[in-house]
Amino acid sequence: MMHEELFNLMNQRQSIRKFKEKEVSKELIEKIIKAGVTAPSAFNSQPWRFVVIQSQEMKKKIRESYSDLRKKNKWYEQDTFFIENSVPIIVLCEDNSEMNTISCALAIQNMLLASESLGLGSLTIGAFSMDAESEEELKKIVSAKKEEKVVLVCLFGYKDETPERKTRKTIEEVAEFL
Ligand SMILES: Cc1cc2nc3c(=O)[nH]c(=O)nc-3n(C[C@H](O)[C@H](O)[C@H](O)COP(=O)(O)O)c2cc1C
Repeated sequence: MMHEELFNLMNQRQSIRKFKEKEVSKELIEKIIKAGVTAPSAFNSQPWRFVVIQSQEMKKKIRESYSDLRKKNKWYEQDTFFIENSVPIIVLCEDNSEMNTISCALAIQNMLLASESLGLGSLTIGAFSMDAESEEELKKIVSAKKEEKVVLVCLFGYKDETPERKTRKTIEEVAEFL
């Protein structure tokens, strides 16, 4: 793949909060996870676990928990139906060490790009990791191990919106050449 093609893919990805009813095949989900596990990890520890939520009942519970959390924190109002209309993958880290969490984050970025290349939209939800109570609630829903940490909830599905593109800081603002 040429750089331009890869750059365009990265630049094209954006958070999607409205998905079509169309079902995402297991084959595509496996491709996304396969891309995730190619990521580097500290000492090649591969500290990740991916829980794919297929049950509509579980999606509903996750949505309710997320909505409650948003209300509790008085974050801007959001129609959270996108959770029930997507394939959520809960990315769990084997512990809450910084290196392992960073490794999981690298896997997630691979997954987002893979999903974009497969014609799917995605969203990463970090809210659960910002509130101990909600994180525990989510861990209970997916029967996560006590020591596991929720890194992000990643949603995948067929895009049903084209949001306005978010701006980015310029190279001058973020890079320094010493
Ligand atoms: C670590 C992380 C946590 C995020 N958590 C949420 C979230 O809880 N809810 C949400 O709607 N979007 C969430 N987002 C999406 C961001 O709002 C989004 O990536 C950002 O506004 C940039 O927009 P873009 O992804 O369309 O480029 C999260 C993104 C990241 C990277």
